[in-house]
Amino acid sequence: MNSFDDLFAHYPPDVAPFMHQMLADYQATKPYKGFKIVHNVPLTQTTLLKIACLKTAGANLVVTNPSFMNEDRDAIQVLTNEQVPYLPLDSVKGEFDFLLDCGAELVDKCYAHKGIVELTRTGAMRYQRHKEFHVPIVSVDDTRLKCLETCLGTGEGVYRAIRQIANVDLTNKNILIFGFGKVGIGIAYYFSKITTNVIIAEADSSRLQLIEQRGYQSVDAKQAQLIEHAAEASDLIITATGLKDIISDNYHLGAFKDKLLANAGAEDEFGYAFDATEVLADKKPVNFILKEPTLMEFLDPIFYAHNIAIDDALNNTQTGFRALDQKTDEAIVSQWAKHHDWTVEKLNQIF
Ligand SMILES: NC(=O)c1ccc[n+]([C@@H]2O[C@H](COP(=O)([O-])OP(=O)(O)OC[C@H]3O[C@@H](n4cnc5c(N)ncnc54)[C@H](O)[C@@H]3O)[C@@H](O)[C@H]2O)c1
Repeated sequence: MNSFDDLFAHYPPDVAPFMHQMLADYQATKPYKGFKIVHNVPLTQTTLLKIACLKTAGANLVVTNPSFMNEDRDAIQVLTNEQVPYLPLDSVKGEFDFLLDCGAELVDKCYAHKGIVELTRTGAMRYQRHKEFHVPIVSVDDTRLKCLETCLGTGEGVYRAIRQIANVDLTNKNILIFGFGKVGIGIAYYFSKITTNVIIAEADSSRLQLIEQRGYQSVDAKQAQLIEHAAEASDLIITATGLKDIISDNYHLGAFKDKLLANAGAEDEFGYAFDATEVLADKKPVNFILKEPTLMEFLDPIFYAHNIAIDDALNNTQTGFRALDQKTDEAIVSQWAKHHDWTVEKLNQIF
């Protein structure tokens, strides 16, 4: 794929309706003509659609890549072909109208004249400290639409990856999941399509109740013996708590040996007592072995929101940190549901 046109052809309107709509709208109205925008979001093939929209809107872009991601040479080549400047994060500095950020990495390097948009929880927490900031800081993390990506998108990716590499049929098998947060909820949802034997370990009492309300079996993560029994009876164990070494630190390891193990979290949740070879994908977040760890249909609404949040900052110039306005958030979720044959009610039952 060499150009933005190639990418829009690769991800047609039924897969990425928000990106296609945004491209058409921006082509017609050029809403950011002359705006200087710096863009720091993991630079992948999929992100290029979002960048293409901003270019079409008339923005003068500088594109960079967050410090925690390796540079994708193919994506940078497409930017070069499209005459969009790319700079490594270390070299980015100066004054811009908007900072479109991920992980609050731009705020110390760049000055924003009109506003900042943040993509992630970590970044939102850092920007939240800037209550007295001189421009609006709009977070698309504190939204319902973010669940489409983190809950459904990651859940589907983890499910797809495990089924692809496990080499066993997991239909009706016993599955134990650690953590019923955004990611764990999505994993449980997708595995419940092939088995009714889903047990979820949680440390939080209100979450334990929620697990039962959602029709799964729960087990209190603080009750080591119960956990070990559940682990012994499991075929597949998946971690999604966000906590390093959680299994090594807390449980008798014999219960976990010779099981299919997979980690969905950013940290090594099985921990030091497990060899990399004992956990699928060498302990890394298992969906990252896939060419597309999260499918475009789940990224489409968050990419759209991260761009459209510029309008939120232009329409409401109140300075300091806030979430994307609720009306826009709800409208995006309901449009996504309609497009992909879901209902908002069904989504609300999941997250
Ligand atoms: N693989 C991916 O593509 C991907 C995508 C997004 C996030 N993540 C990662 O997944 C992890 C989880 O993210 P999240 O957004 O669901 O977090 P979250 O905070 O929403 O959920 C974590 C849950 O784990 C529970 N928990 C804490 N201690 C526990 C314990 N000892 N046993 C069982 N449960 C426990 C918490 O109560 C909480 O409900 C993080 O590491 C995150 O970075 C991965």
